[in-house]
Amino acid sequence: MSLPNNYQPATSLLKDRVILVTGAGDGIGKATAKLYAQHGATVVLTGRTSHKLEAVYDEIVANGDNEPAIFPLDLSTAKHEDFLGLAGGINQEFGRLDGLLNNAAELGTLTPIDHYPYDLLQRVLTVNLEAPFVLTQACLPLLRQATDAAILFSSTEPYEKSSAYWGAYGISKQGLDAFMLILADELENNTHIRVNSINPGPVRTRLRNLAYPAEDMSNLVMPDDVALHYLYMMSPDSQGLHGQIIEAQTRK
Ligand SMILES: NC(=O)c1ccc[n+]([C@@H]2O[C@H](COP(=O)([O-])OP(=O)(O)OC[C@H]3O[C@@H](n4cnc5c(N)ncnc54)[C@H](OP(=O)(O)O)[C@@H]3O)[C@@H](O)[C@H]2O)c1
Repeated sequence: MSLPNNYQPATSLLKDRVILVTGAGDGIGKATAKLYAQHGATVVLTGRTSHKLEAVYDEIVANGDNEPAIFPLDLSTAKHEDFLGLAGGINQEFGRLDGLLNNAAELGTLTPIDHYPYDLLQRVLTVNLEAPFVLTQACLPLLRQATDAAILFSSTEPYEKSSAYWGAYGISKQGLDAFMLILADELENNTHIRVNSINPGPVRTRLRNLAYPAEDMSNLVMPDDVALHYLYMMSPDSQGLHGQIIEAQTRK
């Protein structure tokens, strides 16, 4: 999907909205959380590494945007109560939630199924698939109260979901697409919650470098370059899009 021609988001596009972003300390999540804040949102930054979240917090505050909230959470060890606690904390602090971006992910390893380590299989499926399921479930009661809400997932390249050696990562992302479609169908008649995925395409981040260590990353776009798609899809500008996997980059 391409953005509307010459798309210029209004600076107040996400004004008064509270948006939860996972994996907000680095890469695409960081760029997107900052862009949401620049467009008026109060962002709840969650991720594994506190000092990274604090750095994003500092950048947002230094830019004069709404003060964010920080909620460090390791998705590989988080318990059901932690997800409920995160949603409950947002309710207590802000009394609302208008958007959820499920973006955090781990690569695991690229290896044949024969040799995929069991511990890593469990970890990748937990972080990339189970955690977004449970977090979304915990946030749904608040999102239902919003007048216009969006749930977004970071998907991935089609070949990474179906080609040899992508193992737990590919399976988790395929599963995440299925989760998005099932949820979108369940919410079909609930017109005010849009549910979609974005495939950011190749982006210069740590995760990309782990997956393609021999690649010349200087040819890749930066996280800021795909964040506009995440803004569009989180905002009322994308009303009418539901149950879609959006491509942030056109294929060459
Ligand atoms: N970059 C690409 O080319 C590309 C292509 C297709 C899809 N994607 C998708 O885009 C999303 C963002 O990835 P990225 O490229 O921006 O990678 P990234 O820079 O490595 O960011 C991944 C984020 O996930 C967080 N995370 C990882 N494990 C976690 C855990 N156990 N608990 C909580 N948070 C955890 C990381 O936190 P820490 O920084 O604290 O470790 C980090 O903030 C992912 O879903 C990825 O699958 C990326």
